Amino acid sequence: MIVIKTQDEIEKMRRAGALAGQLLNHIEPVVKEGISTLEINNLCAEFTKNHGAISAPLNYHGFPKSICTSINNVVCHGIPAAKDILKNGDIVNVDVTVILDGYHGDTSRTFMIGQVDEKVKNLVSRTEKAMYRGIAAIRPGKYLYEVGKAIEKYISKFGYSIVHSYGGHGIGKDFHEDPHVLHHFSKNNKIRLQEGMIFTVEPMINMGKSAEVETSATDGWTVTTADGSISAQFEHTILVTSGEAEILTAR
Ligand code: MF3
Ligand code: CO
Ligand code: CO
Repeated sequence: MIVIKTQDEIEKMRRAGALAGQLLNHIEPVVKEGISTLEINNLCAEFTKNHGAISAPLNYHGFPKSICTSINNVVCHGIPAAKDILKNGDIVNVDVTVILDGYHGDTSRTFMIGQVDEKVKNLVSRTEKAMYRGIAAIRPGKYLYEVGKAIEKYISKFGYSIVHSYGGHGIGKDFHEDPHVLHHFSKNNKIRLQEGMIFTVEPMINMGKSAEVETSATDGWTVTTADGSISAQFEHTILVTSGEAEILTAR
């Protein structure tokens, strides 16, 4: 069931989204060579708490930390750790979700550490652009599959792969609500967009030819590319309005 948000809920989602966006801005100056992903996690947890909010990932289905940090071949759901120290040439997706006044704001971006290989830089900038292409396709009355269609149309020319196993999601009082948002074209997303719907657009793009992913048997969370290729991701939480979608997690 897709929840159509009331004006009051939309206001709360705007505040939660703005805080999540601010959180990514807050850590930007320190996401550099030499910092561990655990230190980034701790800064996020502190900022979130100081702003009267809760880190949604912590204990979510048993997730052990406050944010997800996914380095290089990690697609998503990487667990922050002291041993994971960012080095020159790495890329890292930092995915933050806050709960403010009972409502969720979910956003992520991929940071580049020092001098990054030209090919990897292209993957990162094209993944961000793909997210914005998907968001730009959103209009009330259109089908949800227009999001995946726009992303696929843009991404198909580069020889990359769009991950199918994870998607965007409705969001509000719950972290993950209906609908499931696909980042590729599929008739399974034949759902009419309606004003007041709020969901995420969060494409994961693998540099290699394989869209296949594997989940760590050791920690049960870390998702990596099956072929070992690099993967990038960006995410915004958006509101369907009468015109262009409103980005609630804008920075
Ligand atoms: N923030 C992720 C998303 O975009 C979900 C993380 S769930 C967790 O949907 F448990 F891994 F934190
Ligand atoms: Co997220
Ligand atoms: Co999300």
